[in-house]
Amino acid sequence: MVNVAIMGHGVVGSGVAEILINHRDRMSKAVKTEVNVKYILDLRDFDGLSYSDKFIKDFEIILNDNDVKVVAEVMGGVNPAYEFVKQCLENGKSVVTSNKELVAAKGAELIKIANENNVNFLFEASVGGGIPVLRPMVQCLCANEITEVAGILNGTTNFILNKMIVDNMDFNDALKLAQEKGYAEKDPTADIEGHDACRKICILAALAFGKHVYPEQVKTEGITNITLKDVESADTFGYVIKLIARTKKLQNGKIIASVRPTLVSRDCILSNVNGVFNAVMVNGDMTGEVVFYGKGAGKEATASAVVADILDCVKHLEARKYLDWCEGENDYVDQGFDEKQKLYVSVKSDDYNDIEKQIQNLFPQNENSFIKNQYGGEIVFITEPDFEKNTTAKLKQLKNCSYKTLQVIGG
Ligand code: HSE
Repeated sequence: MVNVAIMGHGVVGSGVAEILINHRDRMSKAVKTEVNVKYILDLRDFDGLSYSDKFIKDFEIILNDNDVKVVAEVMGGVNPAYEFVKQCLENGKSVVTSNKELVAAKGAELIKIANENNVNFLFEASVGGGIPVLRPMVQCLCANEITEVAGILNGTTNFILNKMIVDNMDFNDALKLAQEKGYAEKDPTADIEGHDACRKICILAALAFGKHVYPEQVKTEGITNITLKDVESADTFGYVIKLIARTKKLQNGKIIASVRPTLVSRDCILSNVNGVFNAVMVNGDMTGEVVFYGKGAGKEATASAVVADILDCVKHLEARKYLDWCEGENDYVDQGFDEKQKLYVSVKSDDYNDIEKQIQNLFPQNENSFIKNQYGGEIVFITEPDFEKNTTAKLKQLKNCSYKTLQVIGG
């Protein structure tokens, strides 16, 4: 029998406890030994559950119990999770986590501590919820040099955008629904401002390219500025708006990394990833594009990935799994890198005729094609491919108006 402890009994933690306890036989069969949940750490009281007797409030009990071999950290946040995980690893316990904030901030350090203490530190659930993506990327694609990873990595924002597109639902109502369904973070700002997707692309970039990427190095923009009008305009142009996270290796050894709301052409597979589903596209030099798809958030899906990591640790108490990377560097992420791309531009002005003339002067090559839509004093159009800094410099010349831009993929 192998004893495990679960730290945190929130949305994911309760899912992990329920799977391990309610499907105990299935778990035992998978690893050919009994997997026993010995403790569940949470400061709240959970009376009336079939496993209420397992709750403790003192972390030291887990830390000092040598019979606990595997610990699942599903509390979220960097503190106190970081100290707890670090101490468990140092005390010879393998740790699994769904905590992307922790892995994105401290992954390289915790992996090193795990290696030094001959235990495993696994975090499949930190990216893509229930989708197996980290392990397949590292193991099944190991014959490849990975050149690019891009995808939809946040279920909450994808759910919100989808509700706005399909049901014409207002942003705040859609967010409320995502919270009720258990998709959103405790503080949903992390979802809608893009921080959650940012943490996940940091983890994917680190695994793909071997060096830690810190969230503050990633250009991150959320979806709070997206309006129903943008959604409708995008649709008129043949695009869908998605929050796209992307990282790419450059020839000079550096990488680019970003999280941005993006108009995705209906031809692109990512345009059909709807609701809470995520998709991660990995480009390998041997395989070409590989896509991982499934539920990116939610209790059961995420708990499934945590439990799989727990079972992997149980099976490999004496063996090491190789999911690792080294510490990052200040200038590793290229901040100035610019690729030629189309931009969606939405310009607001009180004087529609004047702004139309100004736009036609600045973008004459598009004169007959670029203005596709008009809502009151708002003009939206898609530019020809150019470096973003060139398009932005032109837009800065516009007078008596405000504007916003979104990147465009495909089409
Ligand atoms: N809040 C996250 C999401 C949960 O919506 O994707 C899964 O990481």
